[in-house]
Amino acid sequence: MERTFLMVKPDGVERKLVGEIIARFERKGFTLVALQMLTPSKELAEAHYGVHRDKSFFASVVAFITSGPVVAMVWEGPDVINLARRVIGATKPAESTAGTIRGDFANTTEQNLIHGSDSAETAAEEIRLWFPNL
Ligand code: TYD
Ligand code: MG
Repeated sequence: MERTFLMVKPDGVERKLVGEIIARFERKGFTLVALQMLTPSKELAEAHYGVHRDKSFFASVVAFITSGPVVAMVWEGPDVINLARRVIGATKPAESTAGTIRGDFANTTEQNLIHGSDSAETAAEEIRLWFPNL
């Protein structure tokens, strides 16, 4: 059994897609184990996207993720880290296929609705960062 960190970004909350997004993971058979709605601080956002610190989009992705409330979650299930990424879809809109969350609802790279951990190591780090008491 694995755990992963998923987060509905400010665009998903703004567009009232939180229920739609949560439903997709529930229908896939995964279990929601923790959930918190919050507007991330700049420090939290910079730590979360620390791996992208030297990229050209770092400042704008941090500004975006701190622009309003997000829904931070921990989900559990078999192979959930990899399978949740498949439910989410590719980062770039031209590559995210229909049937995925991004493929169905997102048309820009930055405002792509949802974050999902990309490996066992980052899942553990992100769960620790967002849910220190879990
Ligand atoms: P990344 O980790 O590559 O994507 P993913 O969310 O699919 O794991 O990038 C993190 C976020 O940074 C991405 O969701 C949106 C933003 N981003 C941009 O704004 N421009 C870009 O060119 C890239 C690659 C990402
Ligand atoms: Mg990533």
